[in-house]
Amino acid sequence: MKSPWISALRSVALTVPDLAAAEIFYTQTWGLVLADKSQGVAYFRGSGHDHHLLALHEAAGTPQLRLVTLRARSAKALEEIAQAAQAAGGVVERTGAALDPAGGNVLVIRDPDGRRIEVVHGDAQRANDAPTPQDQPIRLAHAVLNSHAVEKTREFFEKALGFVLADRTRIMAFMNCDNDHHSIALGDTDNDALNHVAFLMPSLDAVMRGGGRLKDKGLPPQWGPGRHGPGHNAFNYFVDPFGIVIEYTAEVEQIDETYRAGQPEDWTWPPGRIDQWGIGQMPTDHLKQAQRRVFFMPHLD
Ligand SMILES: [Fe+2]
Repeated sequence: MKSPWISALRSVALTVPDLAAAEIFYTQTWGLVLADKSQGVAYFRGSGHDHHLLALHEAAGTPQLRLVTLRARSAKALEEIAQAAQAAGGVVERTGAALDPAGGNVLVIRDPDGRRIEVVHGDAQRANDAPTPQDQPIRLAHAVLNSHAVEKTREFFEKALGFVLADRTRIMAFMNCDNDHHSIALGDTDNDALNHVAFLMPSLDAVMRGGGRLKDKGLPPQWGPGRHGPGHNAFNYFVDPFGIVIEYTAEVEQIDETYRAGQPEDWTWPPGRIDQWGIGQMPTDHLKQAQRRVFFMPHLD
């Protein structure tokens, strides 16, 4: 498995109603580092090589998802994706220089349901930090986008972006672009909201200690700790102060072309279980409601 065009999920961009409060939460509590800041926008990085993995734009009201940004393997991939996206029923919204401080050239496409995907090539990257004891996220692990028509959305990600189905469960299509089992997953549901964004932690201990750190701040896990089936990753889910669902994860399964995609009948749980451990908090109503509140912005500014 692997996309011929996409090497990674780089970042997501969202709006939040209070950027000052978001900066405090995402640096002091979540463990990111402020990478850059300009009028009304803050960019946060992890300990890995991405210039930033999260961009927050200040805007009143419920958070909205501006962009999901993927990194292209080559400059030519941008042209090929532009053609493939249009052939698959999408539209090209923009091409040219990136508008964020990571730079590079971008292609912004929208799928037939309005999901806005930015593909970047040549963006700035930095040297990884030495391992620190602060349990910082390294990079994004995956983003999960809900779909009211998941097979149609899967087909778009396959045809327009070269993603490959890694596993299909009753409620999720896991989409692979590189060695991580999945970088995007599509939630099989009745809406097109952002389900959650997952941040890769350096270890299982870091996922657990991160959970304690959030709990100390009054934000206990809304699902977890646990270990998923597909992807085999450990997890803790939280709802941030603005209603965005965020996950600490670690130990994501690394796969190659020999991996065989499972089907819903391959991924079942015994009664009362929805993860491998069965010890953590089951998904709360607060989580479930937050997973259907954050939508793609219809128009960028
Ligand atoms: Fe996740």
